[in-house]
Amino acid sequence: MRNVISVHDFSVEEINDVLDRAEGMVSIAKGEADSDLLKGKVLACIFFEPSTRTRLSFETAMNRLGGGVIGFAGTEATSVVKGETLADTIRMVSGYADAVVVRHPREGAARLATEFSDVPILNAGDGAGQHPTQTLLDLFTIRTEKGRLEGLNISLVGDLRYGRTAHSLALALAKLGNTINLVSPEGLEMPDEVVGYLKDAGMFGTACHSPEEVISNTDVLYVTRIQKERFPDPIEYERVAGIYRVDPALVSQGPEDLIVMHPLPRVNEITPEVDALPQAKYFVQAFNGVPVRMALLSMVIGGD
Ligand code: NCD
Repeated sequence: MRNVISVHDFSVEEINDVLDRAEGMVSIAKGEADSDLLKGKVLACIFFEPSTRTRLSFETAMNRLGGGVIGFAGTEATSVVKGETLADTIRMVSGYADAVVVRHPREGAARLATEFSDVPILNAGDGAGQHPTQTLLDLFTIRTEKGRLEGLNISLVGDLRYGRTAHSLALALAKLGNTINLVSPEGLEMPDEVVGYLKDAGMFGTACHSPEEVISNTDVLYVTRIQKERFPDPIEYERVAGIYRVDPALVSQGPEDLIVMHPLPRVNEITPEVDALPQAKYFVQAFNGVPVRMALLSMVIGGD
């Protein structure tokens, strides 16, 4: 049984294995080839927090591999509103499905879920913790677009304090031998624990407050949303909302082969004019969630 809770659950070799498998899944993900690899299997997607891409790409991945999907998106129509605990929900759902994808507002919830589940748990985001399956699709995108996954300069921009995609990605990229620059507003810096890991790995570049400072030496600009829902104080959110705007002028200051990524949803941190530039890779990145999650499901459920 294989849980996917943190990027630390994967060695470099295993990361490359997932990405290689994902490459082989692209034509199935596009609907150009058929597969019944997971026929008769059931995936549960239980989302205690909003999601568009993560849930739908997991569902698409499962459907394209011939499996079935159950679950909920939002707890309003579930017994959670009656006071059912996460433990009981997991105990029960794990009896209905061959794997369970969990998104939850609390950090550590996915790890906790593994204690009550008879089937693999996949963490689809636990509060401000981690988002390992997003990281795998981010890595797939970088490898596909840049042709390699080491020796790159990656600048993470935005809410590095509460942004779980940035936490997971920084750790994985450092492990793979890439230098990480951290660009965040004051007060939203990357947690010490992640910075410590980057430094120990010798992969810490620089930390600053403005993307202009790093853009000329950036291969991948990874932009993130200010995580409004995690702020204890709305006034603090207002202080930093809209602080960064990645626009064509900023992009033009980067190297010619710069790519711009974003886990999405974006609010206003990348202007719509960037969408038409060849550097914009965030919609391809969102599609890549399907083949990468197919690869993961084939390993976790398919026993492959
Ligand atoms: C991210 C998340 O949920 O952490 N979205 C996603 O899964 N693509 C990013 C975000 O919400 O800002």
